[in-house]
Amino acid sequence: MIFNSGLIIATGITYIKMPEAILLKNIKKIVQCGNDARLNRISGREMASLPCIDDGWLLIENGFISTFGQMNGFEDKKTGFPSERKEIDCSGRFVFPTWCDSHTHFVFAASRENEFTDRIRGLSYEEIAKRGGGILNSAEKLNAIPEEELLKNTLERIDEIIKTGTGAVEIKSGYGLTLEGELKMLRVIKKLKKLTPVTLKSTFLGAHALPAAYRDNRDEYLKLITGNMLPAIAEKGLADYIDVFCERNYFTPEETDLLLEAGARFGLKPKIHVNQFSILGGVATAVKNKAVSVDHLEVLGEDDLYQLHHSSTIATLLPSCSFFLGIPYASARKLIENDITVALASDFNPGSSPSGNMNFVVSLACIKMKMTPEEAINAATINGAAAMELSGELGSVAVGKKANLFITKQMTSPAYLPYSFGSNLIESVILNGKIIV
Ligand code: NIG
Ligand code: FE
Repeated sequence: MIFNSGLIIATGITYIKMPEAILLKNIKKIVQCGNDARLNRISGREMASLPCIDDGWLLIENGFISTFGQMNGFEDKKTGFPSERKEIDCSGRFVFPTWCDSHTHFVFAASRENEFTDRIRGLSYEEIAKRGGGILNSAEKLNAIPEEELLKNTLERIDEIIKTGTGAVEIKSGYGLTLEGELKMLRVIKKLKKLTPVTLKSTFLGAHALPAAYRDNRDEYLKLITGNMLPAIAEKGLADYIDVFCERNYFTPEETDLLLEAGARFGLKPKIHVNQFSILGGVATAVKNKAVSVDHLEVLGEDDLYQLHHSSTIATLLPSCSFFLGIPYASARKLIENDITVALASDFNPGSSPSGNMNFVVSLACIKMKMTPEEAINAATINGAAAMELSGELGSVAVGKKANLFITKQMTSPAYLPYSFGSNLIESVILNGKIIV
């Protein structure tokens, strides 16, 4: 990022250097706003409510939400405001907390549209993987690409999702599958934490697929993860979480258990891929290991619901993966009826969800999973933040939280956002109290 005469430039996105205070006035509605319950997570049936303030104002100071209220009564309040401030008239516009995208694979070396065309011709995701496509294809390319180039590609992708309103992202490794490759990915994520205004969390996914070289020797690869990768990652503080692709043809629940226990010894909590294609008992393994989240859940059994209902593990659903692969959508309604905390994420990756647009994710959740707009917005903001353990600082409009907000174009109601799928309704994005042009 370059600081130069009032402008901060990071790969294509320009941030205008502002006075430290910004006042948003005449806001049609401040969405997802309140100082109490909205500090943590919203579960199950409570997700139906989305607190809003009509005709509001909001003051940002030094990167944080300083105070907000309704326009009537504003004149009395404003005497205490900093005199040097930028004012933005938000008439007809809505202010939302930025999206919190808690499951992505943003760091990758190359796109895979050839597999996309193969699937159009009739091959399945699993068949493509068996032929050496899929994750192993991405791993080969990742191991060949220089670290600097990987960083540059990823920064460009992050700039793109900022424009669609995302302010916090979890990024996984898992396309290295060698010690050096995994460390390279995690170093890129660590550098990104400094280079972008987006808040980032990093997850080690060494068990994303079994590399071909270990086909007849699974245990050796597990040993490489537990004996070499994890110690190196922990020593350099390169990851916040551990993930495993617990799935038929990938890793079993027993292997997952072993890996999560090893991760815990190095201080990494689990967030795992589970139940994308098959029910193997991975949800119970995740819950037993106190996973922060279980992600995918396109297939779901009664025991999975029971396990999640009796735990604080978040169910993270990835509808754009279902859309792109043509696989079933997760049963959001069943999860909500069982009072489970549901989050929504993009799963941005080159194989099963090549889009990080959270507006589309929220639309799909409403259209295909029958989540109400209120539920989907809760899932993509406060619950996404909770799935990254960031809900104390992000995910809702509350005093003291980071000023990560987006202002919509003129629209009629919060539901208009998911309703008008495919339209870009975001007019501006504010991250850490700075407006992005
Ligand atoms: O979440 N399911 C496993 N991992 C990714 C896909 C990775 C890939 O195909 O490259 C997912 O869908
Ligand atoms: Fe994924």
